[in-house]
Amino acid sequence: MLKIVVCVSGGGTNLQAIMDAIDAGRITNTEILAVISNNAGAKALERARDHGIHSLCISPKSYPDRETFNQAFTEQMVELAPDIVVLAGFLVRIPPQMVHTFSNRIVNIHPSLIPSFCGVGYYGLKVHEKVLERGVKVTGATVHFVNEGMDEGPIIAQKPVMIEQGDTPEILQRRVMEQAEWILLPQAIDDIANGRLEIREGYVYKR
Ligand code: GRF
Repeated sequence: MLKIVVCVSGGGTNLQAIMDAIDAGRITNTEILAVISNNAGAKALERARDHGIHSLCISPKSYPDRETFNQAFTEQMVELAPDIVVLAGFLVRIPPQMVHTFSNRIVNIHPSLIPSFCGVGYYGLKVHEKVLERGVKVTGATVHFVNEGMDEGPIIAQKPVMIEQGDTPEILQRRVMEQAEWILLPQAIDDIANGRLEIREGYVYKR
């Protein structure tokens, strides 16, 4: 059984997609140990509680400095001892010591086709604003393992989504979620849980 901890910050629709996929048997062999949010008011926490999943809040704001937070957050994760940490719209930078401790065991979803529209400053709605500003015709989502870089780890899966006339950042964000994120992330978790992924020299291969 793959044990996962899901980290969230906001709406939690990706968390919902994971919970629904487990209930529907589209993700097998997987158990959510806990949901962690940096934001006590996150709708995602409500979704976790409604689903009877252990949920907790840990925020950098409750610590005197970033290093103390990094240490506490990492210790908490080590205590929970998941096989995989899933970042589903988590807006806090993952502590380097956590990346190290959970090397190739932290998965992130990013709402663009990496390496486009990613890195510092590209999060949430901003990604879709910049996509529309640039006038690209295709965007999408990427699931990847997390390394020390920002959106730079080995890519697990990507899915394209077409831009349409009249798109606003909000409309595009919703389409990227519906057509890509809510499908890709559950699939990636199911692939990991069932031993279908292999990482060799920084690349991910699907068996
Ligand atoms: C998603 O678009 C995710 O890719 C991004 O933040 C958003 C989170 O949405 N990193 P939700 O909280 O899962 O609804």
